[in-house]
Amino acid sequence: AGSVSDFKVADLGLAAFGRKEIELAEHEMPGLMALRKEFGGAQPLKGKKIAGSLHMTVQTAVLAETLVALGADVRWVSCNIFSTQDHAAAATVVGPNGTPDNPQGIPVFAWKGETLEEYWWCTEQMLTWPDGSGPDSIVDDGGDATLLIHMGTEYETGGVVPQAEDTDSEEYQVILNLLRRSIVDHQGRYTRMGANIIGVTEETTTGVHRLYEFERAGTLLFPAINVNDSVTKSKFDNKYGCRHSLIDGINRGTDVMIAGKLAVVCGYGDVGKGSVESLRGQGARVVVTEVDPICALQAAMDGLEVVTLDDVVGKADIFVTTTGNKDIIMADHMQAMKHQAIVGNIGHFDNEIDMAGLAKVPGVVKTEVKPQVHEWTFADGKKIIVLSEGRLLNLGNATGHPSFVMSASFANQTIAQIEIHKNPEAYVVDGKPTVTTLPKHLDEKVARLHLDAVGAKLTTLSKEQAEYIGVDVAGPYKSDHYRY
Ligand code: NAI
Repeated sequence: AGSVSDFKVADLGLAAFGRKEIELAEHEMPGLMALRKEFGGAQPLKGKKIAGSLHMTVQTAVLAETLVALGADVRWVSCNIFSTQDHAAAATVVGPNGTPDNPQGIPVFAWKGETLEEYWWCTEQMLTWPDGSGPDSIVDDGGDATLLIHMGTEYETGGVVPQAEDTDSEEYQVILNLLRRSIVDHQGRYTRMGANIIGVTEETTTGVHRLYEFERAGTLLFPAINVNDSVTKSKFDNKYGCRHSLIDGINRGTDVMIAGKLAVVCGYGDVGKGSVESLRGQGARVVVTEVDPICALQAAMDGLEVVTLDDVVGKADIFVTTTGNKDIIMADHMQAMKHQAIVGNIGHFDNEIDMAGLAKVPGVVKTEVKPQVHEWTFADGKKIIVLSEGRLLNLGNATGHPSFVMSASFANQTIAQIEIHKNPEAYVVDGKPTVTTLPKHLDEKVARLHLDAVGAKLTTLSKEQAEYIGVDVAGPYKSDHYRY
């Protein structure tokens, strides 16, 4: 491998530690390692330029290196300003065979604690190869890379920027400034980039939501595979991943005793279900808020009280948002909370908690306890604790999901990347790029790759049984409308 000169991380000196953790993770990521074995020889991604925007953690390093093992030419950034693990970023740049003086891995642009300007600068670097060309495909998490290309294309062709996001926000202004600079230096860059991209594979609920909006509006520039809605992704990572990493974040952030506390979980979707189990497992008393009657009924039947935030705002000790929606906990709510209430979000974006409104409360003072843990003191002396400035606390205050569950998510990502390069035409229908999920047999394959590691032994259907329930002996075992 050649030397890498094009990267920006906190400290390459952390690479040896990062490599050790990557090696530990590889053992816990049987799905990715099996795909390396299966496809390493055939090199299905040979020469493909893949740009990744997904939390730069130890587990993501194993994904990025899997794509390289399948032949791809990869560049990477984090999809959140606080989620990078600096040792993982360093090890990814150095690579398994390089040294800090002679890095030979993957160009990564990511460090823990980026500013918003730095974050979007990194995204732009990740999308720009040294020869000025863009990627062939994208691995996205939350859709920021995809959004930038769509906003850039619209800006370059019409001079206007789509109103997809909150146009008052600081972040929107940052993107706009970046595009204004780009149009001067690289006229038409994003339009060319969007036209060349074969497709994107999207990791999370929020990113998928954005993609379906583009598709409905007829403005989607390239096909997308919805990785989130593989069963082996959202019903595992979003649920069991958050069950592991939610309390990890609260513990590392605050060390508070969770047992006996009253915790409110806003939203009882996949992330909400995992978050509730996480807190209940520690002995918290948990209540839930929901807008969807089905999820509310599920919560009730799971033995949880379903409340409105106003009902419990003055009583609860811990507040966690999991909705992927905006404006869930507002400044008024935070002023009504108990002294030292803990407020955090595990949904993708920070707009679930009204941080801008909190900063505008008259007399409020923000004090840093340590990075990603802040006390906000109101004029009357009462304080609340906000984790990761309202950004996803499991990655901001802790290290995100464990390797094993990410192996399932990232096996889906890898298979989706192979698929989109193998059959690009299949994802454009009547000239229009589509958003689709992977076929069920591949979803089942991802699960299969993880069974040995958990000591699970499958029963084999007899031919007669398979005929009786109308499936093939080798699967798929369920119809597409089955809900698990
Ligand atoms: P989901 O759609 O399954 O669940 C969200 C739930 O919130 C829904 O049941 C919805 O009815 C409810 N909701 C919406 N507005 C609400 C409101 N105003 N009050 C109360 N409930 C409300 O989505 P999922 O998969 O659980 O994802 C949630 C968020 O978490 C997304 O932003 C997703 O991208 C993110 N995510 C974060 C992860 C992490 O590691 N931090 C991992 C996976 C997903």
